[in-house]
Amino acid sequence: MNQLDYFFQPKSVAIIGASRDPKKIGHVIFRNFVEGKFAGEILPINPNAEELFGRKCYPSVLSVNSKIDLAVITVPAPIVPSVLEECGKKKIPAVIIITGGFKEIGNADLEDQVLKILKKHKMHAIGPNCIGIFDPYSGVDTFFLPRYKLERPGKGKIAFISQSGALGSVILDWMAMKGYKISKFISYGNAVDVDEADLMEYLAEDKDTDVICAYFEGVKEGRKFYDITKKISSKKPVIVLKGGTTEEGTTAVASHTGSLAGSAEIYATAFRQAGVIQTENVEQVFDFARVLSTQPIPKGNRVQIITDGGGYGVMTTDWLVKNGLKLAQMSSQNIEKIKKACPPHVVVKNPIDLTGDADTERYKIAIEAAAEDPNVDIIAVIILFQIPTLTPDVVDVVSAISDKKTKPLIVIAGGGRYTEVLKKSLEDFGVPCFSYPEQAVGALRALCQYASQVHSKGAKK
Ligand code: COA
Repeated sequence: MNQLDYFFQPKSVAIIGASRDPKKIGHVIFRNFVEGKFAGEILPINPNAEELFGRKCYPSVLSVNSKIDLAVITVPAPIVPSVLEECGKKKIPAVIIITGGFKEIGNADLEDQVLKILKKHKMHAIGPNCIGIFDPYSGVDTFFLPRYKLERPGKGKIAFISQSGALGSVILDWMAMKGYKISKFISYGNAVDVDEADLMEYLAEDKDTDVICAYFEGVKEGRKFYDITKKISSKKPVIVLKGGTTEEGTTAVASHTGSLAGSAEIYATAFRQAGVIQTENVEQVFDFARVLSTQPIPKGNRVQIITDGGGYGVMTTDWLVKNGLKLAQMSSQNIEKIKKACPPHVVVKNPIDLTGDADTERYKIAIEAAAEDPNVDIIAVIILFQIPTLTPDVVDVVSAISDKKTKPLIVIAGGGRYTEVLKKSLEDFGVPCFSYPEQAVGALRALCQYASQVHSKGAKK
């Protein structure tokens, strides 16, 4: 068993500082465990309370008779060493320290004390100054944000690790609203023990994770991070958003997690050499991750555009070229097939413009032809759902072809509420959807970057 398994699949969890006050962090975490999907034993630890939600409270982990796999610490910083010492004596293998007030406020001595206790008892810890773990598969949820204020996403294949708890929680909420799914979410704060590289190494072996995403401001040990990401990046895509890339941002980092932000150029070079895909913003992380987690690895970078709107087709063409991707040239056989089945005003080039009176059947013919054409590596389907002839069953047709996973297929669909509903159904079927051509093409560029890494290393996804 991997030591980090205790964080994600514990059989029993102790919440140290499970408060009686509904507004306090320890209370919310305890409540979230009780009301959530966690199937193991949940133990509230609080010397000042008799019981919580009808469950007996223990004054210390040492007064619990059964084995404890994971402890979540939510007591103030000065008493963290003493409760941690008790966790050590109880032989608890994994501890999440939510508490803030350590290195990030210049309290390095207290953090050193924590590290010494962890080493002495051979325990592993995530944190301090973090919000911990959300794992929809095991039900572990130490995020102290009430569920009515912050929704949780469903089970998926994208893992996200974040040095910043605030950014992590916002992303989680936003993912839930968008219908994006997650495998594991980890906010690891000051990383006194378990750091970003350890988590990435763990996620590389996690069967529920296909893509690893991360936000951080600085890595703890540069060489370790480089070696680990270089090793895992051809097995699973690693997507990184780095905070603190300007001089001013670097200063802000020091008072946030106390990490060394380092030079943006050095990081960018190291990421490139290690096969890590760097993004510019949060939205791009998910654009890239949605494509990389759902689509097969393309053989090349030749893209066939199929559209019902000329302008969107032109813009997509521009962005493809600007991003170094190529326009596919379909075989004459397939071109003839589409021409034969469509009225004469349909333009069968690249883009294929099915025009403003397109219907589901026209999309089916064109997408199927592109899917079987050896000169096409990737299919970009633009659907402006608003045209009168197009019925919602186009979603079923696109999903069914995409489901065969012969080559990557993405959808670009701009519009309002009606469009958003149909896009959400496509996302549910594993078809990544985008509102704007530049957004979609950025994600395709990342897919091609990863594909060339995989092809050059001869590895398989
Ligand atoms: N073992 C277990 N519980 C204990 C205890 C002990 N040895 N000593 C005290 N407690 C109990 C308290 O009695 C209290 O329960 P009660 O409210 O029922 O009396 C509970 O633990 C919490 O202690 P309290 O002193 O009220 O702390 P708090 O809830 O105000 O603050 C933190 C604790 C951890 C939330 C706070 O110190 C902190 O770090 N806040 C910032 C967290 C944060 O932002 N993290 C990073 C996110 S990115």
